[in-house]
Amino acid sequence: MTTRNRIVLSSDHAAVALRRAIGAHLAAKGWEVVDLGPQTTDSVPYPAQGAAAAEKVASGDCRFGIILCGTGQGIMMAANKVKGIRCGVCSEPLSARLIRQHNDANMLSIGARVVGEALALDIVDAFLSAEFEGGRHATRVDMIKALEA
Ligand code: RB5
Repeated sequence: MTTRNRIVLSSDHAAVALRRAIGAHLAAKGWEVVDLGPQTTDSVPYPAQGAAAAEKVASGDCRFGIILCGTGQGIMMAANKVKGIRCGVCSEPLSARLIRQHNDANMLSIGARVVGEALALDIVDAFLSAEFEGGRHATRVDMIKALEA
């Protein structure tokens, strides 16, 4: 069963500080945060970090996932290889809102070397406050799901 207020965070070494800031922000808003680390800035491979978070979302253990690396791109590519994951990289709030409303994204990726903390928190809030609109968008999301079959 999906835990509706549980969210997983994961990053590589390039995004430790921003991931922690996002975790504190979400905890203050009442989210149960599952933080997959890392806890130091020693190098860790973004594919493993992205896949671990994606598995938490795909299994239903977490409702959403937020992942970060230097650009947000590599860890997003890894997460999207896990069946059931729809993850987009966002550098501004509009895209973060629209990937929920139109694409039913269940994961958000952010580049810690691209956006600062205040903007990242706005992006996170835009993502989490938006709802999937369904309708014609559901038809298109179903087409994405069919590609996984
Ligand atoms: C690590 O230096 C960097 O390559 C990684 O954080 C990310 O930007 C990859 O997409």
